[in-house]
Amino acid sequence: MSRAARAVIDLDALRHNLQRAHAADPEARQFPVIKADAYGHGLLPVAQALTDADGFAVASLEEALVLREAGIQQPVLLLEGFFHADELVKIQQHRLDIVVHHAAQLDALESLVRQQDIVKPVNVWLKVDTGMHRLGFAMEAVSDAWARLSACDAVNQPPRLMTHLACADDFQSSRTQQQIESFHRVLPGVQAERSIANSAGILGWLGSHADIGRPGIMLYGVSPFLNETGVDRRLRPVMTLRSDLIAINACQAGDAVGYGGSWVCPETMSVGVVGIGYGDGYPRHAPAGTPVLVNGVEVPLVGRVSMDMISVDLRGLPDAQVGDGVVLWGEGLPAETVARAAGTIAYELFCSVTARVPRQYV
Ligand SMILES: Cc1ncc(COP(=O)(O)O)c(C=O)c1O
Repeated sequence: MSRAARAVIDLDALRHNLQRAHAADPEARQFPVIKADAYGHGLLPVAQALTDADGFAVASLEEALVLREAGIQQPVLLLEGFFHADELVKIQQHRLDIVVHHAAQLDALESLVRQQDIVKPVNVWLKVDTGMHRLGFAMEAVSDAWARLSACDAVNQPPRLMTHLACADDFQSSRTQQQIESFHRVLPGVQAERSIANSAGILGWLGSHADIGRPGIMLYGVSPFLNETGVDRRLRPVMTLRSDLIAINACQAGDAVGYGGSWVCPETMSVGVVGIGYGDGYPRHAPAGTPVLVNGVEVPLVGRVSMDMISVDLRGLPDAQVGDGVVLWGEGLPAETVARAAGTIAYELFCSVTARVPRQYV
């Protein structure tokens, strides 16, 4: 390994965080959301570590097949269902669960029955749009969709019902309560398993607790709520993005640092160069002042983020040496704090870590 940038993934912390979901919603089964390469943490190592998961949720057939080919036996849910009818053969073969959120998917399931003599029924989660207006059947269309699924030989009976919360990260928003109430009004009296809660629902909205939870970001140690960090919810960070100091420069007052010379040294000072940049997924728009940990001490980023490097103000660390360890986020520096400084969210930080950054599993 020539470059020092690496993402250290703490699988024990991951398992701890799943236990937090079980503890917060003890009646429910939990399907960890491990799409987008487990939010950048590594699809397979994460799935293999979570032996206590009741199932997994992913975004594509390709992700699901990686799990099945590695021998993962738990149910695997495709959160957007299938995109083309020709995926259905593999979905049946590999016993994948699918979300059905659109009439075109109903048509495809019905025509599958007409095309095949023997149909292996699939587990369907009928998605209801209770107010997010992204995926799902409108409230008034749910009865009809339910009737079609109930009559379809390609579907295991009864289907499940699910919805997704748009604003559960914000306790001040009244929309979450409205969404939960709308969902409970759907198909009264119908016996079906239900799923509402993402991480924010599991940790903060009791009314969203149902038969199955779908925790994502909390598993990776991040609080789903505004103005909090995972520590506030007794979550442990899973990814620590690390690198080293690769140079220390003695700069004079007036020296401009990095591309564009946007940051100018106010006095004689040491400026450290860290071997990480936007080519590794560190956010290019992180402004001067974004915290970075050098030898466990918080120092501010200075100048623009380059592809392979960033610079930091070492005035607070006179003993720093080339080769000293740097944490960009994770252990000791919450990803939420860096994300806020950079005007983004921890989800995006994690998903942006590029393939050239080796993941080290501990
Ligand atoms: C349908 C669905 N359920 C659950 C989740 C998990 O959400 P979170 O990571 O906020 O827990 C997601 C994530 O985007 C999702 O799309």
